[in-house]
Amino acid sequence: MADRLQDKVAIVTGAGSSGPGWGNGKATAAAFAREGAKIFAVDLNADAAAETKQIIEGEGGVCETFTADVSSDGAVQDLVAACIDVFGRIDVLHNNVGIVEPGGPEEIGENAWDNLIDINVKSMYLTCRHVLPHMVERGAGAIVNVSSIASFYSLGYACVSYSASKGAINAMTRNIATQYASKGIRCNAILPGLMDTPLIRGAVADAYDDIDAMLKKRDAQCPMGFMGNAWDTANTAVFLASEEARYITGIELVVDGGLTLTMSPMAG
Ligand SMILES: NC(=O)c1ccc[n+]([C@@H]2O[C@H](COP(=O)([O-])OP(=O)(O)OC[C@H]3O[C@@H](n4cnc5c(N)ncnc54)[C@H](O)[C@@H]3O)[C@@H](O)[C@H]2O)c1
Repeated sequence: MADRLQDKVAIVTGAGSSGPGWGNGKATAAAFAREGAKIFAVDLNADAAAETKQIIEGEGGVCETFTADVSSDGAVQDLVAACIDVFGRIDVLHNNVGIVEPGGPEEIGENAWDNLIDINVKSMYLTCRHVLPHMVERGAGAIVNVSSIASFYSLGYACVSYSASKGAINAMTRNIATQYASKGIRCNAILPGLMDTPLIRGAVADAYDDIDAMLKKRDAQCPMGFMGNAWDTANTAVFLASEEARYITGIELVVDGGLTLTMSPMAG
């Protein structure tokens, strides 16, 4: 185990995975723990969080789980209180939860729009709202928000609510970074590109008839010839959460193997 986050306490939202294998949140929780952090793993799915805890503890790390819907103010208030209760502090807030819904304005209904914006954007506002007082008290903290290159670029299929949510996360990240820089708190965003995770084999695959064809198409879209994976996101999160990034705040760190170099903003 290394020590880039030694004795730090990290809340990771969506620390489980929506399917077998490694999602971004699960890999980030494990990567944080391998660097010495104590993990407060939050997920709507208790079994998914329990699996992450089992992996972390199996590697000699420390992990507590909490079942919550992070789009609910009461639940977020409770999870933050529980983390303080268990670990006494919060050094890192990793906002990973995000869902995808393929479709444009004509396909996505009002309730689905509201639901996605609540889960992807409101959740991050709520976690920041309840975690920041603890970070301010200590005069230190690192917040990492998981956005997407979909905030700037078309992914080749319509996903209007997802793109809008990720654009909002970028703006929120810059705004929080500005407000809290003088208080010792950094806030950054990670913009993964096309990653091969359980999430895309689930929700994104709904936009395609054939999953294998979808995976091949995504690989071919990437200049390196293959999609990234959850560890590419996780390793970036470790860097941004650690002291190595102590002078970095308010950035949108693109992790896409060069994909966006080949794209025009919002070209279809
Ligand atoms: N895979 C990609 O290609 C890709 C690309 C860019 C960005 N991202 C972003 O990565 C993030 C998710 O990555 P992942 O691989 O961990 O996804 P995932 O779907 O595998 O896991 C997310 C976890 O979040 C939990 N969750 C969902 N809604 C929740 C809620 N309301 N409250 C609490 N927990 C909830 C799920 O139960 C699941 O265990 C998202 O923000 C997504 O937009 C992914």
